[in-house]
Amino acid sequence: RAGDAVGEIHGDQDGGKISRHLYGHFAEHLGRCIYDGIWVGEDSAVPNTHGYRTDIVEALKAIDIPNLRWPGGCFADDYHWRDGIGPLDQRPKRVNLHWGKVIDTNAFGTHEFLDLCELLGADPYIAGNVGSGTPEEMRDWIEYMTFDGDSQLANLRRANGREKPWKVKYFGIGNENWGCGGQMTPEYYSDLYRRYATFCHEYSGNRLVRIACGPNGADRNWSRVVMQRVGGRTQGLSLHQYTLAAPWGDKLPATGFGEEKWFAILKESLGIEHAIRVTEEEMDRVDPKKRIGLFVDEWGAWYRTEPGAPDYGLYQQNSLRDALLAGMSLHMFHEHNDRIHMANIAQVVNVLQAMILTEGDKMLRTPTYHVFEMFKVHHDATRLPLELTSPDYAFGGESMPALSVSASRDDAGKVHVSIVNVDAKAPVKLRCRLSGVDAGAVRGRVLTAQRLDAHNTFESPDRLTPREFDGASLADGELVVEAPPRSVLVLELDEK
Ligand code: AHR
Repeated sequence: RAGDAVGEIHGDQDGGKISRHLYGHFAEHLGRCIYDGIWVGEDSAVPNTHGYRTDIVEALKAIDIPNLRWPGGCFADDYHWRDGIGPLDQRPKRVNLHWGKVIDTNAFGTHEFLDLCELLGADPYIAGNVGSGTPEEMRDWIEYMTFDGDSQLANLRRANGREKPWKVKYFGIGNENWGCGGQMTPEYYSDLYRRYATFCHEYSGNRLVRIACGPNGADRNWSRVVMQRVGGRTQGLSLHQYTLAAPWGDKLPATGFGEEKWFAILKESLGIEHAIRVTEEEMDRVDPKKRIGLFVDEWGAWYRTEPGAPDYGLYQQNSLRDALLAGMSLHMFHEHNDRIHMANIAQVVNVLQAMILTEGDKMLRTPTYHVFEMFKVHHDATRLPLELTSPDYAFGGESMPALSVSASRDDAGKVHVSIVNVDAKAPVKLRCRLSGVDAGAVRGRVLTAQRLDAHNTFESPDRLTPREFDGASLADGELVVEAPPRSVLVLELDEK
């Protein structure tokens, strides 16, 4: 389809809340995510607050980070929490089995993670160890963190410096147990889930949301078996979906690409909606009232590691293309807000589609970070249903819709419309009827650049940042927007 995009926003309809938890994050003991990225220790020359990099804490606060998943990932099913408590000099050094067999000093453990969450104002989401741990270990960890009474474990927590228990709401029973978490069948995992979850108790008013390990992408069989067997005993099911547009063993570079790979990645990223739909269908069979949440707790682009960085560290640059991928994915999560309770982009610092990259005491905010900052206006706002007919963006005999759009109204009554135009070359004009929105003024911000692989560097950390946008106007109950090519936009409408 060619021509203008046309749409209608239904400001008089309630499309449900866009939970801020759709804007969640993930930090694993992998490469330089935790050590160097988040945690440098109090004696470091890098400015820090009780061992956490001050620049990272400030940057994450600025995007109102709602939650943080930890300690993995694959790492979670080989993590033994007792290694990471008590005096630093007595914590054992362990081999990080999954990620380069490097030594983990365990300097960052349960206290460091949960205190970081408090500092950030983020809800912790802990992934428990099913693959190599025991039900007893999982049981004890929850008591250690959340029990307020006079037990040996609660007193051990106190002796380690934390008097009051933490609140830990989100608890994953394993990670990718179909793969790095134990190579299990869904039948075997379901039995283990039932066993482990039985010992995940609630203490001292702490309410648990237990999350069962869900499928790899659109693996319908995994979802079906797990839902049938544990659907009555879980509050969540996870889903992991990465975008590669390349074979696993020959991934694409994160920068230095032309339009072919621009198109390939953005088109493939739409596949997450297929995976969501398949998983939702299986959840609906067992849970038609949608009580169980879908947790898309790993998603994003996965590229070749940067030259000079170790392969196991998964350190990659992040370009304008990733910003658009993020914007479109977040829009898809908005659309499925009746089932998706949380989504966590992988990962927060220095790993995969990161928010932030660091080098020594330098840091940069990636284009993806800027989308999370621009889209903050959608946090906990009411989704406004919309219809959209978009022209196609065609390349090499294939096509995809050029525009992706989402709208919400916040508690203060402001309406926000976010727009992604994936077309590499052409602007797209959008004419959008506003039903039930009596808009008197519109203003906006845009993230765009000339180069398809535009990105920030430690030398020029602010090369790509959002700018004011004046290409939107209001006329006769319509919002008219000239969306630049390669752009992410957020518009704010003031109602009269
Ligand atoms: O995010 C990197 C890895 O990807 C995680 O450890 C694992 O869960 C997934 O395969």
